[in-house]
Amino acid sequence: MCGIVGYVGPQACAEILVDGLRRLEYRGYDSAGLAVHDGKRVDVVRAVGKLQNLVNALREHPLPGTIGIGHTRWATHGRPTEVNAHPHVAGNIALVHNGIIENHLDLKRQLAEEGVKFVSDTDTEIVAHLVDRESRAGHDLLAAVRRALAQVRGAYAVAVIDEKHDRIVVAKNASPLVIGFGDGEMFAASDIPAILPYTKRMLPLEEGEIGVLTKDGLQLMTMDGKSVERQPRTITWNAAQAEKGGFKHFMLKEIHEQPRAIEDTLRGRIDLAAGDVFEAEIGIDAATAKDIKRVYFIACGTSHHATLYGRYLMESIAKIQSTTELASEFIGRDPVVGPDDLVIAVSQSGETLDTLAALKVAKEKGARLLAIANVIESAIPRVAGAALYTHAGPEIGVASTKCFTTQLAAMVLLAVFIGRRRGTFEKADAQALLQAFVEIPNHMRTVLGLDDTIRDLARPLAQAKSALFLGRGVSYPMAVEGALKLKEISYIHAEGYAAGEMKHGPIALIDADMPVIAVMPSDRSYDKIASNVQEAKAREARVLAIANKGNSDIGGIANSAIYVPKVEAALSPFVTCLPLQLLSYFVADFKGTDIDQPRNLAKTVTVE
Ligand code: AGP
Repeated sequence: MCGIVGYVGPQACAEILVDGLRRLEYRGYDSAGLAVHDGKRVDVVRAVGKLQNLVNALREHPLPGTIGIGHTRWATHGRPTEVNAHPHVAGNIALVHNGIIENHLDLKRQLAEEGVKFVSDTDTEIVAHLVDRESRAGHDLLAAVRRALAQVRGAYAVAVIDEKHDRIVVAKNASPLVIGFGDGEMFAASDIPAILPYTKRMLPLEEGEIGVLTKDGLQLMTMDGKSVERQPRTITWNAAQAEKGGFKHFMLKEIHEQPRAIEDTLRGRIDLAAGDVFEAEIGIDAATAKDIKRVYFIACGTSHHATLYGRYLMESIAKIQSTTELASEFIGRDPVVGPDDLVIAVSQSGETLDTLAALKVAKEKGARLLAIANVIESAIPRVAGAALYTHAGPEIGVASTKCFTTQLAAMVLLAVFIGRRRGTFEKADAQALLQAFVEIPNHMRTVLGLDDTIRDLARPLAQAKSALFLGRGVSYPMAVEGALKLKEISYIHAEGYAAGEMKHGPIALIDADMPVIAVMPSDRSYDKIASNVQEAKAREARVLAIANKGNSDIGGIANSAIYVPKVEAALSPFVTCLPLQLLSYFVADFKGTDIDQPRNLAKTVTVE
């Protein structure tokens, strides 16, 4: 998730572009750059790190000109460096891109065979060379971009300029892009906040649309050349609202971004035909997958909860003995781990000190290492030397939501990859699971449509002093995660428990004042958790069930229910954790706590 901007008009545009990037920094902030046409040539300035570094570089190397594009990066392919920063240049083409090119390796091979030399490790530079190739073949900028994108598979929002034309060509597929209509000037951006100070007349591009921006307006068409007529609408948001995409908090925005985050994390990684996961971005190779004897997961907080799901899948799909370790406890004892073991450190920030220290302990003991992280080249992936990156984009809310579900997605990818190589997971079973997996984002969209129902069910919960979350099997990690979310942002004490454990103690807590939230999809552990819930109900508990649509018994078991789509049993966490996130969010909103920055918490914990 990067941020792109574009401007064409009478004004010197460098400052406008930088200002736009500043308002998009929540989308990515590891490097940035501009390309500006001064009427004769296109010049480029890029810088690593915070946007201020680009501002300083522009002071050294000003970019006069009234047509330009800019980019702030959230690395997915290639470390945060100056050569990997955008805009990427090929010939007299300059291009900025937000998204992931799935077939970049194939395209790169083709271009290399034609003698093209690459300076960066990015998927984006390949698109710049494709446009340049078409331009050298005599096509104008619009045709060159169209022909180039026809060869590309994946998600993109691009803005392209060249020396020969006084225009910007923009195109969109899956990644967001909005056009701003000014008086005698035009704007393009990944999101409304970037250009809201300059115009309130906006037009979001639809899937598969391409457009030409000149100072006089927009010429819009579909990728196959059909002209499109659509009027801009007027935005009423203020800048703060716009950064949150109209949502009240970043956390709620990030909850609603999860379907897209999962799609981006799966993009280019699944081979449905072969019932397999491509090795390219998994972080371990086939030999390691076959050799390892045990898996150790190390993590903290919400990431630890994702590893509880990971263990479940590692044992059920890859049939490999797996344990989950709280990183801070792993450090404290002398763990028996060695070269036969794969130690997987899971951390969205990639900087959590406990997890980093635990990883170093495993490294000293000669274990094989893998990081699952959301920030490219952060400390934990660097120390592990191998990484499977989630593509959730930057997560601003302290309470992790989209990074959690993309970690769950990484667990599925890894378990299938290892299971297929160890021969413990048949092709047909893998095809069925992966087919169900690629359908998950739309099921998540269905659940996210239940906002109003969940808000109403959250109201009584806001009065509670404490709450108990129950789950079994793959729902047990969701119960502990649901409890953590409620604790983190509403400050209500909550415990997540394996439902089977309840009768060994926590049932003593239950009375009419104890809300019980039971995560109970209709899978093989349903009957057992149903009887656990009845034990709680028999002691006056107010039970709220997360159950599958079509479950007609639940009314007799629980006081209220949130119904989620029935999906492949092993994938139910992707639909059951959303109501838990939303419940906690609405309870905290009723209580008026500081949801995005809860008391006593930090987004990245860099102390032991
Ligand atoms: C989760 O909402 C919290 N922010 C916290 O528990 C977090 O998961 C934990 O600190 C681990 O962070 P990491 O994933 O960046 O390592």
